[in-house]
Amino acid sequence: MVDGLLGDLAEVVGPANVLTEADVVAGYAVDWTGRFRGSTPAVVRPGSTEEVAAVLRICNRAEVAVVPQGGNTGLVGGGVPLAGEVVLSLARLADLDDVDLADRQVTAGAGVSIGRLQVAATEAGLAYGVDLASRDTATVGGTIATNAAGLRALRYGDTRAQLVGVEAVLADGSVVSHLGGLVRDNTGYHLPSLLCGSEGTLAIVTRARLRLVPAFAERVVALLAFDAVGPALAAAAAVRSVLPSLDAAELFLHSGLELVTEVTGLPAPFPEPHVAYLLVEAADQLDPTDALASAIELLAEVADVAVAVAADPARRQRLWAYRERHTEAISSIGTPHKLDVALPASTLAAFVAEAVDRVHSLAPGARTWIFGHAADGNLHVNVTGLAPDDDRVDDTILRLVAFHGGSISAEHGIGTAKRSWLSLNRSDAEIRAFRAIKAALDPHGILNPNVLLPAAS
Ligand code: MLT
Ligand code: ZN
Repeated sequence: MVDGLLGDLAEVVGPANVLTEADVVAGYAVDWTGRFRGSTPAVVRPGSTEEVAAVLRICNRAEVAVVPQGGNTGLVGGGVPLAGEVVLSLARLADLDDVDLADRQVTAGAGVSIGRLQVAATEAGLAYGVDLASRDTATVGGTIATNAAGLRALRYGDTRAQLVGVEAVLADGSVVSHLGGLVRDNTGYHLPSLLCGSEGTLAIVTRARLRLVPAFAERVVALLAFDAVGPALAAAAAVRSVLPSLDAAELFLHSGLELVTEVTGLPAPFPEPHVAYLLVEAADQLDPTDALASAIELLAEVADVAVAVAADPARRQRLWAYRERHTEAISSIGTPHKLDVALPASTLAAFVAEAVDRVHSLAPGARTWIFGHAADGNLHVNVTGLAPDDDRVDDTILRLVAFHGGSISAEHGIGTAKRSWLSLNRSDAEIRAFRAIKAALDPHGILNPNVLLPAAS
């Protein structure tokens, strides 16, 4: 890295915001899972859209690649410098405007955490539709880059569904800003949709206009336990069809629950173990407990089900912990391979059994953990006990997903972890179109060049 370039960047953002000390930048060069590790000559921390624009102008002219980074909670190696890129940290873009109550929207900087956004929405009597366990660290910019979905997507959709407008900086430093918040606005290409899920490869999102949703006064959570995976998955679909107030329907299995209780010290939720668990939450203006109980009664007519119900916040949180703490529990026993996939509802139960079998025959020492967003058909297949660069299990699981007509990335993105398998879901013509868009917006290929698109052969 030319010292002159770092000097130019320091002139833009201030010397204190160009980090170069090895032990400081090391934390920016490894992803949350620890599986994807790279290196960087510098972490640059702009404090405004104008500074992002000036930084990109300098890097574009010098043809120096940059990797945007938010809270660094990504799970596919999409936000770390894999090949010596400069890290562009958006953490300082943390302005959060007042909630616009008339339009039920808010404008937030890329560096605002999802947790802070949720608090601001709640204080205004509303809510933000995207929620995820990493809420206190994950940022608006990062969740746009990956089109994060999370725990409430069955009701409110993914991040793309919340995105009314964006302000972003293109590779050449030009700023595209469309934050007016008009919901009816058919004036050409919809850049928010294009940039959402583009993993920082097309532009750097600096601010976003986000829709907010109603805040419900009453909430109830039930943990349902089943003796097989099929009935648990069928229950997710059944509850969804009879309970309009359903906010979440999350699946986990006995092995995952056992690990969570071991690692966290939480007591087991039922006296006897069960094969599969479904955590459901309903939220409404009037207490949804009776409606949820009726839905569960219908389930009990067709399957054996044990039930634990919680209405007060502390007990609800305790039930949620069994699901939400899977990620940390799995990471505590080793570096996981995280395969975040979606499947047609009719194939989910067979897939769970086949995935476990395939991992076992390929890597008998490995362990498979399956959990996820059952009502959306989004399963997280986590495998521990593999070397970080051993891709055999990734390959067999992703091919199995494609065989069943599923998606190899339901919500985490492609990153570096899955770029070699993009063609399982995307045709040559689609990938050519992706490359054409990338080349048009980023002709020198400086924006996150080692993710999403397969390496050029
Ligand atoms: C989740 O649903 O908990 C997240 O996607 C994180 C993960 O997959 O570990
Ligand atoms: Zn998830």
